[in-house]
Amino acid sequence: MRKIFLILTLAVAGLFCNSQDLNNRLITPGEIWPDTDGNHINAHGGGILFHKGTYYWFGEARLLRTDKDRTNYGVGCYSSKDLVNWNNEGLALRVIDDTLSLLQPGCVIERPKVIYNRKTRKFVMWFHHELKGQGYRAALTGVASSDDITGPYKYLRSLRPNAGVWPVNFPEEFKNISVDEAALKGKPEDRVKAVKEGLYLRRDFEGGQMARDMTLFIGRDGKAYHIHSAEENMTLHFSELTDDYLDFTGRYYRVLPGESNEAPALFFARDRYYMFSSGTTGWRPNPARLSVAEKITGDWKTIGNPCRGTDEENRITFGSQSTFVISPRNKKNVYIFMGDRWTPQNLADSRHIWLPVEWEDAMPVIRWHEEWDIDKLKKVE
Ligand code: GAL
Repeated sequence: MRKIFLILTLAVAGLFCNSQDLNNRLITPGEIWPDTDGNHINAHGGGILFHKGTYYWFGEARLLRTDKDRTNYGVGCYSSKDLVNWNNEGLALRVIDDTLSLLQPGCVIERPKVIYNRKTRKFVMWFHHELKGQGYRAALTGVASSDDITGPYKYLRSLRPNAGVWPVNFPEEFKNISVDEAALKGKPEDRVKAVKEGLYLRRDFEGGQMARDMTLFIGRDGKAYHIHSAEENMTLHFSELTDDYLDFTGRYYRVLPGESNEAPALFFARDRYYMFSSGTTGWRPNPARLSVAEKITGDWKTIGNPCRGTDEENRITFGSQSTFVISPRNKKNVYIFMGDRWTPQNLADSRHIWLPVEWEDAMPVIRWHEEWDIDKLKKVE
């Protein structure tokens, strides 16, 4: 009798408990990805930090479309031992209920990334920050820090980086030219040329450079870089952070000027830096680009579309936009492309597209896999 009761109880529990099977090793890109409570992981445009044997996934915590507000309410944090089964650690950073705060509800927090500073023993989070009611005009980057990896992170400030300083690699002869912007209307090629020669860089010189899509990366030179779409999203800036990671040193490099890259996601493999990025079509996916450099500060060269699917799949990066590249700790030289398949009408339902990075000679490529086993990832030779 007791046995029957136990079996019945387990069966009923099984019906109601939709939490994830902890033995699951499979990644199914584009499907709902339940956390250990059974809810779709709400951490979009995210990134991953490995710390003391655990992976932490930080990303945009988006409100459900059914809620009145369409902006987000902070940065979600999840933890995992195996990159597949994720526990919800709650909000690492939340909006501040104060109309005087730049981080008040109604602002936009995108593409948050966290790095650990060994010297200060603080976790430092940077994110793309847009102000309430201002669309994407502010183009700020925000910074927050915490003693504990899961937070709560203390919001410090938001700013436009590198005010009053020229990029290290900006030619002297472009510093003082003046261009009639109105004359560039309807002449896209002339505009691209003007941007390459610093049109928006000069415009934003005094007030600071724009910072929209972003990531963080610690280079082999030991410096942390804040990598952001600047100059009306037409040029990436690689901006060096101070030793405590809380500010900019003022040393920064323009990367791929005029080439309109967003969604930068870097990794270091085979003695080279690689970067996945996207074009600039908002939430709609476009063809991914792959760029390579010997030093983090460049020169960067774009080497093509890394997708290896049908023409349609390559045109839309398997329906995704890059956000990060993961290198699992117990698997040296293995990399995972992490992207978002955005659902703009309900951002919380956006899907996570994780695909293994495969290699065609020296070219990292990505192929579609309906489902794949994280334990069977191949090493880079
Ligand atoms: C994309 C960007 C996203 C978000 C979106 C808004 O280009 O990568 O992070 O900002 O635009 O339209």
